[in-house]
Amino acid sequence: MKFVVTQGNIAQQSAGCIVVNLFEGVSAPGGATGAVDATLDGLISRLIAAGDIDGKAGAATLIYTAGKLPAERVLVVGLGKAEAFDARAARKAAATTVKALAKVKGVKHFATIVHGAGIGGHDAADAAQALAEGTLLASYRAPNYKREAPENGPALCTVVEFDATRLASIEAGVRRGESIAAGVNLARDLSNEPPNVLYPVAMARRAQAMAAEVGLQCTVLGEEAMHELGMNILLAVSRGSVHEAQLIVLEHVPAGRESEAPLVLVGKGITFDTGGISIKPSERMEEMKHDMSGAAAVVGALQAIARLGVARRVIGVAACVENMPDGNAFRPGDILTGMTGKSTEILSTDAEGRLILADALAYVARFQPKAVVDLATLTGAIGIALGQQAAGLFGNHDDLQNALMAASNESGERLWPMPMWDEYMEVIKSDMAEVKNSGGRAGGVSTSAKFIEHFTEGYPWAHLDIANVAWTTTERDALNPKGATGFGVRLLVDLAEAY
Ligand code: BES
Ligand code: MN
Ligand code: ZN
Repeated sequence: MKFVVTQGNIAQQSAGCIVVNLFEGVSAPGGATGAVDATLDGLISRLIAAGDIDGKAGAATLIYTAGKLPAERVLVVGLGKAEAFDARAARKAAATTVKALAKVKGVKHFATIVHGAGIGGHDAADAAQALAEGTLLASYRAPNYKREAPENGPALCTVVEFDATRLASIEAGVRRGESIAAGVNLARDLSNEPPNVLYPVAMARRAQAMAAEVGLQCTVLGEEAMHELGMNILLAVSRGSVHEAQLIVLEHVPAGRESEAPLVLVGKGITFDTGGISIKPSERMEEMKHDMSGAAAVVGALQAIARLGVARRVIGVAACVENMPDGNAFRPGDILTGMTGKSTEILSTDAEGRLILADALAYVARFQPKAVVDLATLTGAIGIALGQQAAGLFGNHDDLQNALMAASNESGERLWPMPMWDEYMEVIKSDMAEVKNSGGRAGGVSTSAKFIEHFTEGYPWAHLDIANVAWTTTERDALNPKGATGFGVRLLVDLAEAY
């Protein structure tokens, strides 16, 4: 989808469809919607009076203009109650538009006003950003391997603003929204790709190509380099796979900030999780192709951070490994010592995410980070606790936790704090090693976080368990299609800008 921002009157636009809006409870539309209503001889007002158009969030009514306007069609989207209108509602209105227009074959180009920027009185740049984000997130199509290409909706969106003084803000907001949504959709693509296509080396190639395009530094460590660093816990997880593990390091360094303490983002990148020797049941195992969604979110966020030119140093690390059973695979009972010199006893080869993070988090200490945040599809149990409504937030540093909660509120990507009491550590003490990699079912989310914490040293750290929010088996809403959600990208961009 291409966006063009222009000054003008929406009623005069020639496009397949023009889009105007209505707050809930309004009977006589004003502003741009009122102008369009007047040229249609009050048709919109009559449909409101008849109850066909109610302005509720998620509602969209298509009207044919019968030659009264240059555009053949008008779409009236509901914005919900004026007092409840925010960026989330603006994204939803844009997404509703995309969904409604995708069903109308003749519309390849639509023109829209910026929801909330006019009568709504919201900041023009924020409203325009929400418009672009909502439009692009809702038009996302997963990679497709069918011979026939899927049908696509509109390819061009003209953003129309009457007030010339607001044009520059709207242009900036649209471009910002484009960069952020592209990061989310990149993360979705990576998670949706099948595991035979997206193995660790393929992930590294995609990250390198992206880095070259947006101007990030990219370094990739293979197994030999990781072996030299003593990353034996991560490498053990990879041993059953024919695919070489990759530690992908992306670095965003604005000029003059080369020596600034960076924000470091670390993602779990299990490109397929069979469980290894502690093999998973086969039912729904195919979904474990998205066990690299933490890594995908980090790669997507770094793309967005580079494109936005965020004024701080940010490093993204994607730890990519495939977890397979094999004659050479690691086993329950194995004891491993990694980069920190700390040892762990393997109880389950299916608790592999915390193992690769143990070495990835040891590795990032070299950057002397201001803070480290890891994202991981770590435990099924986090979904039992929080459902699809939030990711679990674990940490040991109040400022960082508060900044993450603020970014969560800002982006609408919900986090909820989970406990990290020392008693959880007792549960994962091992007889022969320092820690064991599973504490059993009780308190499983907190014991997994305590395991990871054990391997962090010298920096504030937080962990986001995204296992139940990174993937959806049904379309959650107009913004989140079936499959990968790209959760975390918008949150991380907000964190990078605000913390
Ligand atoms: N990748 C899984 C967690 C997961 C489950 C992610 C469902 C997304 C959806 C993780 O590696 C895993 O297998 N966790 C185990 C941990 C247990 C063995 C301690 C789990 O949650 O059962
Ligand atoms: Mn697992
Ligand atoms: Zn896993």
